[in-house]
Amino acid sequence: MQRNADSKHCVGEVAPNLKTAIPGPRSVELLEVLARHECPAITARRARRRGESGVSQDPIVWKSGSGSTIEDVDGNLYLDFTAAFAVSSYGHAHPELQEALHEQSRQLMHGMGDVYPTDVKIRYTEALSDFLPGGLSQSIFGQSGADAVEAALKSAVMHSGRQRVVAFEASYHGMSLGALSVSAYKGSFKAPFSGLIAQQVTHAPYPYCYRCPFKSTYPGCGLACLEYFEHLVSHPAAGSEEAGAVILEPIQGRGGVIVPPVEWLVGVRKICEERGLVLIFDEIYTGFGRTGRRFAMEHFGVVPDLVCLGKGMTGGFPMSAAVGTAEVMSSWGTSAGEAIHTSTFLGNPMGCAVGLKAIEIFRRDDLAARSTAMGEILERKLLDLKERYPALIGEVRGLGLMRGVELVDTEGRPNGKLSLELMRRMLEKGVLILPSGVWGQVVTFTPPLVVEEEQIERMYAILLEALTELV
Ligand SMILES: Cc1ncc(COP(=O)(O)O)c(C=O)c1O
Repeated sequence: MQRNADSKHCVGEVAPNLKTAIPGPRSVELLEVLARHECPAITARRARRRGESGVSQDPIVWKSGSGSTIEDVDGNLYLDFTAAFAVSSYGHAHPELQEALHEQSRQLMHGMGDVYPTDVKIRYTEALSDFLPGGLSQSIFGQSGADAVEAALKSAVMHSGRQRVVAFEASYHGMSLGALSVSAYKGSFKAPFSGLIAQQVTHAPYPYCYRCPFKSTYPGCGLACLEYFEHLVSHPAAGSEEAGAVILEPIQGRGGVIVPPVEWLVGVRKICEERGLVLIFDEIYTGFGRTGRRFAMEHFGVVPDLVCLGKGMTGGFPMSAAVGTAEVMSSWGTSAGEAIHTSTFLGNPMGCAVGLKAIEIFRRDDLAARSTAMGEILERKLLDLKERYPALIGEVRGLGLMRGVELVDTEGRPNGKLSLELMRRMLEKGVLILPSGVWGQVVTFTPPLVVEEEQIERMYAILLEALTELV
């Protein structure tokens, strides 16, 4: 067990007695300040959510974290089953990551991107390449997941010489304009900016077998979605014949923890190869052990031409990368004077130092195996819940420590309302979870990979209690 230098609890420790004061006076006070000074696009959403969920202390204001627990400014403790958007995979405030950050910041906080690389950036590019499967060996760094998606899309266009991209329904790739163009999670995210959204994107159905858009059932369906994808990229009248790239999440995250059949992804890879399409995997959510393997692609035995990384890459320092094969990345060509894709903070030395340490911890503590083992325990609990409440739970799905429970109403329709109410009850009882799915109908569990079995049991007892109270 590792003790944090200046924290009250231990990494990996079972959450101490969860206590949640309602409402938290310090949280309320700080949120009033925030409401005056933060862009209302963000604050208004919180207020709406508070109205909808009826949670007096939603949101809470985070102050510190340790392992799988969070403390708010009112001294309340929470079990974190979100890993803060699936980022804090190594546990909150991991002492070794902190030390790597401190050490690097003492030496150099900022480098000169593409002009004068730092030694730590060079070491990190090599370590990432060693960590990734296949020939994924050349990186472009960014600060957010969306940055990585932009860099991957540009690399694919440089390689194929074609600008149309095929993406998938319910996909989420980020909020910058290029990433938003290929996302299809919610139309409302794009509508106000429609003139700035790339038009050369086609969205194909993702194999969301639980609600198959073809009204078929796997495996008897013969993978109609794959056939349709092939039709889209090959039929002269389907509008995507001239596509140069395909971007997809090997397991959809925000779209609702959707795991496609293995043959589907294998088939997509084959079609891309046959048609000279650059295949991009967005593993920003699924990478770095989230699904029980280093990368979700390993469940399918498929390697893309480019992969997007972020979130669990550093466990908290804003850092991302698009990593491609030498063949694809060489298509950027030689410079005509200035780099045509770069950024001020490209390969920030602190991010690289934390990323390097994260890889070391990942290997040493075998976090992929831990994700598998804890994920199986979590899955058993969620299946138990489904057995107890078969009318409310349509499906339990996911891999490793990325699990989702699809809630349904009496007609079997997506039940986003119940999911929100459940989230609210859980928050009041000291457990943080998030919804996913385009209707918010999937209760999602993505704890830090260092979560303990006792913490899963604790969370489950609270989940059961909360659901029982609601129905
Ligand atoms: C699969 C996927 N891609 C891209 C992004 C965007 O990452 P960021 O919010 O860091 O820009 C996310 C964020 O949730 C994601 O889940």
